[in-house]
Amino acid sequence: MNAKTPEQSKTILTDLVLPSETNPLNNLFGGELLARMDRAASIAARRHSRRIVVTASVNHVAFNRAVPVGSVVTVEAKVSRAFTSSMEIYIDVWTEDRESGEKTKANEAIYTFVAVDETGRPVKIPEINPETELEKQRFDAALRRKQLSLLLAGKMKPNDATELKALFV
Ligand SMILES: CC(C)(COP(=O)(O)OP(=O)(O)OC[C@H]1O[C@@H](n2cnc3c(N)ncnc32)[C@H](O)[C@@H]1OP(=O)(O)O)[C@@H](O)C(=O)NCCC(=O)NCCS
Repeated sequence: MNAKTPEQSKTILTDLVLPSETNPLNNLFGGELLARMDRAASIAARRHSRRIVVTASVNHVAFNRAVPVGSVVTVEAKVSRAFTSSMEIYIDVWTEDRESGEKTKANEAIYTFVAVDETGRPVKIPEINPETELEKQRFDAALRRKQLSLLLAGKMKPNDATELKALFV
């Protein structure tokens, strides 16, 4: 299985915020953004693995800026690290100024997807080689995030979370 790059999984979804997708303050409803990010992330995971993929965990979401109705929203997802069957997907969300076209970072999120076979059993996926400085930073921190996610899910013992322990020692 040949190694791939994050760029090969890059997925960009651009869409408007419609009135039916907003909260009482006329800003994008959080659940709608989560769904858009999940869709983009699942395509990125599929592009990396070329397998069926399922969402295993939403590791982090930061709703830093409200996104008003009528905004053009771009969701960009890339695989930041591939493990044995699981992938971390890093998602950046941008809004676009109507007049200048200038993009502003609104939100970001980190999802974990697992590649599975037709019976839902996890399968091996290609490795990933980060290229840019940002891709390398995200790759390096991904193991720590995986351990934290497994720990919180009760799937890893604290003693085995070596990357997390290293933060405090
Ligand atoms: C995701 C799923 C396939 C994992 O199955 P599992 O029996 O836990 O399988 P494993 O223990 O072998 O884990 C498979 C991989 O997922 C990773 N994983 C499992 N749970 C995880 C979590 N909470 N956070 C991060 N990674 C996780 C494991 O570390 C492992 O990674 P690796 O192979 O790269 O080392 C299974 O739980 C599942 O099908 N869940 C439902 C998925 C779904 O329906 N999603 C849509 C939500 S509505």
